[in-house]
Amino acid sequence: MTIRPNSGTGTGPITPDGSSVNFYRLVPARGEPEIVAGVVPPGGSILDLGAGIGRIAHPLIELGYEVVAVDESAEMLAHVRGAPTVRSRIQGLDLGRRFDGVLLASQLVHTADEEGRQGLLETCARHVAPDGSVVIQWTPPERHDAWEVGRGRTDGGLRLELAALERVAPGVFDATMRYSHEGNVWTQSFTSRRLSDEDLAEALADAGLRLDRFLTEDRTWLRAAPGG
Ligand SMILES: C[S@@+](CC[C@H](N)C(=O)[O-])C[C@H]1O[C@@H](n2cnc3c(N)ncnc32)[C@H](O)[C@@H]1O
Repeated sequence: MTIRPNSGTGTGPITPDGSSVNFYRLVPARGEPEIVAGVVPPGGSILDLGAGIGRIAHPLIELGYEVVAVDESAEMLAHVRGAPTVRSRIQGLDLGRRFDGVLLASQLVHTADEEGRQGLLETCARHVAPDGSVVIQWTPPERHDAWEVGRGRTDGGLRLELAALERVAPGVFDATMRYSHEGNVWTQSFTSRRLSDEDLAEALADAGLRLDRFLTEDRTWLRAAPGG
């Protein structure tokens, strides 16, 4: 299967994964820092993988955490304040230290590239302390199956909507999100692999991690811990 490369449109810089820097600068945190703070002890260290402009990192820093922000986009990282930044792909990253918390948000774990997914989770495993937490945002299968063009949400002046969806192989979907704010429109096109609970457990185990528990009622956030 050939995986369509991610892409994005709209004003301002667009990252290799299709994310718009200008759009993410407009999006406030929506409870994500509190979810992380629920499992990482106060004052602990957090590695934010795919940190973007620091949308989640900034409130975590305000809560007193020591954050290191990783992203492959220098244009995203240029907006991070109060944390050291590392411009790098997540896959293969080795900072030579471990953190109380490792954050892998934004459904990055759904990449259609199996090796890529393994690389993401191995980086989480390589950097989490033995008693630490890997906090992952994913789309549980029941939510993935409910994707429908036109569905989305309006948040303040921001509109986020699924603009296109095509099943390109069993469990693999090409999707486009459309974001708008005050007349500006951005799109992000990506490929998402639906993961069953068993797929998730297997991918975690292959990286030396285990699912500990879901952190939200809708199951979109989970805590994984070291150990098979
Ligand atoms: C959708 S944005 C979200 C950023 C942030 N997690 C948030 O919730 O606001 C995803 C970010 O992950 C970065 N990213 C995606 N895949 C990556 C990879 N394999 N290695 C490094 N950065 C990656 C992108 O450059 C982008 O800044």
